[in-house]
Amino acid sequence: MTIPFFTRTQRAANPGNGKTARLFISGDAAAVAVGADGVATAIAHAAATAGRTVDITRIGSRGMLWLEPLVEVEIAGVRHGFGPIEPAEVAQLVNAGLFNADTSLLAHPRSLGPVDKIGYFARQTRLTFARCGLIDPLSQEAYRANGGYKGLERALSLAPAGTVDEVTKSGLRGRGGAGFPTGIKWKTVHDTAAEQKYIVCNADEGDSGTFADRMLMEGDPFVLIEGMTIAGLAVGASKGFIYVRSEYPHAIAVLRSAIATARKAGLLGGDVAASKRAFDLEVRTGAGAYVCGEETALLESLEGRRGVVRAKPPLPAHRGLFGKPTVINNVLSLAAVPFILAEGAKTYFDYGVGRSRGTMPIQLAGNIKRGGLFETAFGMTLGELVDDIGGGTATGRPVKAVQVGGPLGAYFPRALFDTPFDYEAFAARDGLIGHAGVVVFDDTADMAKQARFAFEFCAIESCGKCTPCRIGSTRGAETIAKVMAGEQPDTHLALVTDLCNTMKFGSLCALGGFTPYPVMSALNHFPEDFRRSKRLPQAAE
Ligand SMILES: Cc1cc2nc3c(=O)[nH]c(=O)nc-3n(C[C@H](O)[C@H](O)[C@H](O)COP(=O)(O)O)c2cc1C
Ligand code: SF4
Repeated sequence: MTIPFFTRTQRAANPGNGKTARLFISGDAAAVAVGADGVATAIAHAAATAGRTVDITRIGSRGMLWLEPLVEVEIAGVRHGFGPIEPAEVAQLVNAGLFNADTSLLAHPRSLGPVDKIGYFARQTRLTFARCGLIDPLSQEAYRANGGYKGLERALSLAPAGTVDEVTKSGLRGRGGAGFPTGIKWKTVHDTAAEQKYIVCNADEGDSGTFADRMLMEGDPFVLIEGMTIAGLAVGASKGFIYVRSEYPHAIAVLRSAIATARKAGLLGGDVAASKRAFDLEVRTGAGAYVCGEETALLESLEGRRGVVRAKPPLPAHRGLFGKPTVINNVLSLAAVPFILAEGAKTYFDYGVGRSRGTMPIQLAGNIKRGGLFETAFGMTLGELVDDIGGGTATGRPVKAVQVGGPLGAYFPRALFDTPFDYEAFAARDGLIGHAGVVVFDDTADMAKQARFAFEFCAIESCGKCTPCRIGSTRGAETIAKVMAGEQPDTHLALVTDLCNTMKFGSLCALGGFTPYPVMSALNHFPEDFRRSKRLPQAAE
């Protein structure tokens, strides 16, 4: 017997006469990758063999990836965690009384206590991810029972401009990277007259160390559907597209299934929630180019062409998909909207600091002990995130650098760990939050290699439209290689700095324009790694 991903409640074949244990195991791709399907299947087999009944609900991820496969057992009405559990360890869990689901099971060596009391989880403020890991992602009833569709209800009670105003007042900024105020973008589309407008969800999620979009789409797809529906009704768009990277087959399957359910329930289609207003959705799959996450290249790709960046203006809000006014937002931006509408702009705005309002689902990755998703209000320092929440490196060695914001983000040394997670604070230190991917490196990392990699990445992913990026990235990789080989390092480092300036100010989009961030931060914070004396015996230049 196999329990396919996102199967809802699975009841073992041989109903016994004892009580039915209620179990929850993630069907999220990250849990499945480390054996969650095998664990679910082994438990169902063991129950069938023992003549016991067991309900296994496949849920989204709680975001504590180092504990996967995590088995949650409802004991006296509370969900207790056991993990990580290998499929081979299921028999031991069964012998400890898994199917009785009583307190004797708590003596199991992998018992973690109530899941929502685990420090990593308890310290979060889960607004966007409130339901992720809690419910069956494809149960619309469970979604509703846990606050779903309240936002849409409220939006339907407001004039479209009122919804836009609410999003503006919440202080929500784009979670895809640029941090542009979402309400202003929506207002531009709202105010632009057109027969047809579109909502496009950017689910290309190309940044290194990021997985929040995927986790949300797999774990709570209805919140994205609701957010996009609210956006459509607010700006007057009747059609939406979700552009998902092809490497996310689980997310694509979940979204398609959830969209069909929403349509059947009358929450998508020609008459959304009996409002006499239309909005429908389609999932489209990307083909694996980083640059297709850039909004205009994404639109080209959606229209069936090669992903090449378009010059702006015109802005997509004026002339976007198929030349029509288009809202293009990241998954997390759109998924924050139902909460904002349901609870009010002020509730959301009250979280955060400065001009960074609300919460950010931060992704802790790379060489880190407790990797996963951590949603928190803006303002926590980088050091708290890496050391306290993440527990330092997985290797146990000292942290050397942290790259925040994907492949175009700056490397932060420990000396800057007091930087609060906030758009402006990061910018003030020549960094960016981007999509909030935090990738940790220990003291074995060679920052010259990382700088060379930044250029190489840019060279591979460049769309080729503008010269500073197309040519500069390759010349940059070659020049750093010369520095690494000890060939006139001062001269070549000066050239790299000059090249970075040209790319920063002369590139058409942020792929070429931001590649200098990782390069220059590596150079400025870790100059010793660029010196030949560290690599080879000293030689005269
Ligand atoms: C090279 C490049 C790649 C990008 N990749 C993504 C991506 O994978 N996902 C995303 O949401 N935004 C990405 N962006 C940012 C988008 O261009 C755009 O700002 C974003 O989709 C707008 O949505 P937001 O305002 O909700 O953040 C990328 C930008 C660049 C320059
Ligand atoms: S910066 Fe690079 S990716 Fe962006 S438009 Fe220019 S060539 Fe294309």
